[in-house]
Amino acid sequence: MTRLIVVSNRVSPPVGEGKANQGGLAVALSSALRETNGIWFGWSGNEIDAFTGQINFARNDGVTTATVDLEAQDVEEYYNGFANRTLWPLFHDRVDLAEFERTFAGGYERVNARFAETMLPLVTSEDLIWVHDYHLIPLGSELRQRGVTNHIGFFLHTPWPVLRLLLALPSHRQLVEALFDYDLIGFQSQTWLDSFLLYVREQFAEADVTEDGTIRLGERTVRVVACPIGIDTREFVASARSEEAEQARLDMLKSLDGRALIIGVDRLDYSKGLEQRFHGYERLLADHPEYQEKVSLLQIAPPSRENVESYQDIRRQLDALSGHINGEFATALWVPLRYVNRGYDRASLAGMFRASRAALVTPLRDGMNLVAKEYVAAQDPDDPGVLILSRFAGAAEQMKEALLVNPFSPEELADALAQALRMPLAERQSRWKALMANVEREDVHWWLRSFLDALDDDDGEPTASL
Ligand code: G6P
Repeated sequence: MTRLIVVSNRVSPPVGEGKANQGGLAVALSSALRETNGIWFGWSGNEIDAFTGQINFARNDGVTTATVDLEAQDVEEYYNGFANRTLWPLFHDRVDLAEFERTFAGGYERVNARFAETMLPLVTSEDLIWVHDYHLIPLGSELRQRGVTNHIGFFLHTPWPVLRLLLALPSHRQLVEALFDYDLIGFQSQTWLDSFLLYVREQFAEADVTEDGTIRLGERTVRVVACPIGIDTREFVASARSEEAEQARLDMLKSLDGRALIIGVDRLDYSKGLEQRFHGYERLLADHPEYQEKVSLLQIAPPSRENVESYQDIRRQLDALSGHINGEFATALWVPLRYVNRGYDRASLAGMFRASRAALVTPLRDGMNLVAKEYVAAQDPDDPGVLILSRFAGAAEQMKEALLVNPFSPEELADALAQALRMPLAERQSRWKALMANVEREDVHWWLRSFLDALDDDDGEPTASL
């Protein structure tokens, strides 16, 4: 089997208890790496004074990782800078938060070149190379410049922004041009793929875009696909039925004292729509006073990217808003909103999902959103909770039986919550069944196979190096 080299900014190999500590994506990538005796390459997460290019190899549970330390300036300009102050906000429709600094763009190019240079000795001519996410868009091109002719695929985990927003990025053409050095580009949904094609048609008039998703530009040919990522459904279902999950469920039910639980679990990120979500809940309590003291919203939001100012701002805003809502509605015996800035392991989350009546997964923009899929997988088929899902998450294309909402509208959120809380059992079951069928069919293994089969497809020659 062709050896796989996965490249991503973060590398999360199986550690300690193995799977228990990894997300679904990491579990799936690890199993593909294990099977092909492959390598997972990326940043170690460490900062040093001066870049050395020394690779730290490790082997955990049959998975080899090769990581490099980055110097402080790289972390600032590439990770905190171009990746998370420029591309992330822009790709999530927040051009107002995007910062365009030449030093950031320079750091991004520098780190991508350093990654290419450092991993080059690891690559043999037969390997399949799979690059992940917005941190590493130019990596394929950097590898080609160093003579790599292997099949190289790229998968974008975030949305692809609409044309007029992307034009705000001074180096937009250069960024997209680098993508033509891949053989295959995967997007999470048809919407993001269509948005990419629109950009290409508008900005590269000389490109030949065919109906079957092949783009030709000069000597280069790249295929584009919509290939939605899934979760490790079997594993998550098993985890939801574990003793640890059951204990978490029972503890939660005890603390609820008969109240209905609404749950949200998100990285603390402005793209997740937490402010709007809290306003939606506030609206429910105000417009439907019958739910006061009868429901509880648990929002789990572990802090993320804390060195970036917009993340510090959203945290402050949510601190204030959660305090405001509790101050307004709480009684001596009831706290309406439990707002928790820490993470939980997957089994505990699964148990809490099972204890809930509804989940709010309402990002303003999201490439996919795997919490929506985990929520469905965790449910008890006899008494499933209701998924309230943003229309603007990639997951909405596959999960049409959820209650789909406009996350910007507190009224729609409040209406959906009221509908979920009074939804009859038979309707909850039939919606869940349809959702679960998709979560089972299009799981992370299906995603991995679909992408790698397309990348390994030998119809075309590997792209020639430039
Ligand atoms: C998103 C991105 C990932 C990223 C993750 C966590 O899901 O698509 O590439 O790893 O957020 O963010 P962080 O900055 O902590 O790696």
